[in-house]
Amino acid sequence: MWKNAIEDALQVTRSNIDRFGGRFPHVSNGDEHYVLNDNTEWTAGFWSGILWLCSEYTQDPLYREAAVRTVDNFRGRMERKSIFDHHDIGFLYSLSSKAQWIVERDPAARDLTLEAADMLMKRWREESGLIQAWGRKGDVNNGGRIIIDCLLNLPLLLWAYEQTHNEEYRRVAKLHAEKSRRFLVRGDDSSYHTFYFDQATGEAIRGGTHQGYNDGSTWTRGQAWGIYGFALCSRYLQSAEMFETARRLARYFIAHVPEDHVAYWDFDAPQTSETKRDSSASAIAACGILEIAERLDPTDPERQFFLDAVQNSMASLVQNYSTHGSETEEGLLKHGSYSVRGGDSPDDYVIWGDYFYLEALMRLERGIPGYWYDRRSNGRQ
Ligand code: GLY
Repeated sequence: MWKNAIEDALQVTRSNIDRFGGRFPHVSNGDEHYVLNDNTEWTAGFWSGILWLCSEYTQDPLYREAAVRTVDNFRGRMERKSIFDHHDIGFLYSLSSKAQWIVERDPAARDLTLEAADMLMKRWREESGLIQAWGRKGDVNNGGRIIIDCLLNLPLLLWAYEQTHNEEYRRVAKLHAEKSRRFLVRGDDSSYHTFYFDQATGEAIRGGTHQGYNDGSTWTRGQAWGIYGFALCSRYLQSAEMFETARRLARYFIAHVPEDHVAYWDFDAPQTSETKRDSSASAIAACGILEIAERLDPTDPERQFFLDAVQNSMASLVQNYSTHGSETEEGLLKHGSYSVRGGDSPDDYVIWGDYFYLEALMRLERGIPGYWYDRRSNGRQ
């Protein structure tokens, strides 16, 4: 089943290279077309990552050339400095220039990725001990705010440490991950989307949400970012505690998905026939749970439980949520939600959903793990 689903995805991607031209897909808006932009959104790296995955899988120069063009575009983005105002530099450059470094050992791609890591370091706030997700330094609402999504940006810093042995990258990533573990993960293994701290002192204020159902709810994509983010940080930092946190979040996720194994947009949203799904949350969680399961000892009874959960959710995504067989649709996965709360693409394609869907398929079919860590060093420092 995985192989056929990958073949379908390769076809869609091949057509999308022409359809998108040099532009970048973000989300759809109620139809079967992606809204395109000139590499201005936080999501542009996912298109690059899809192209690198297709290139690795097929060795077809068509995908590689398109992937390299996206990296060139990311060089331009760095020069334009249009990435200053948020933390998603990790998403952007891990899957574009870092992917090229991982696949081809291209020195210019390595230099660009290190520049991106330095850019992300500018969002570290020593006074409060956190990486500021959104807004400018001192911003009244966002200056002392962390969000769980940031965990996927940390591998950029941890990779930079691996490359340079500059301790500062690792220190910052570790402190931020530890703070996230302490304040975003709750005792019942659910999670806050965001948490506020006093900007001057770092004193904890309260948990909250941005895209979830309410401040105390568990936004499913946030939980998925937590599963994969803590699993990746634990790989780099060799932290048993963080690995255990990833496992806890994974257990919660698996226990709370509905019968068809694909998550609603928030675990606490009332469930009716109208409740939206977030297929992207299930795709991200699948990648994170695979990252966990593959590192568990084969005798660990939870290993098979995790692998079965991935099998179930991916089979459901392929059969019930993917666009397989369609020649006109531009997305790989239907029924993603950007923000149900904000009414922003609540039941649409979202390019990160497509990326993680393909990453999970390629892990399952060929053991290609995406571009969050360097396979040669295995992310171990
Ligand atoms: N990282 C932004 C989102 O998941 O919507």
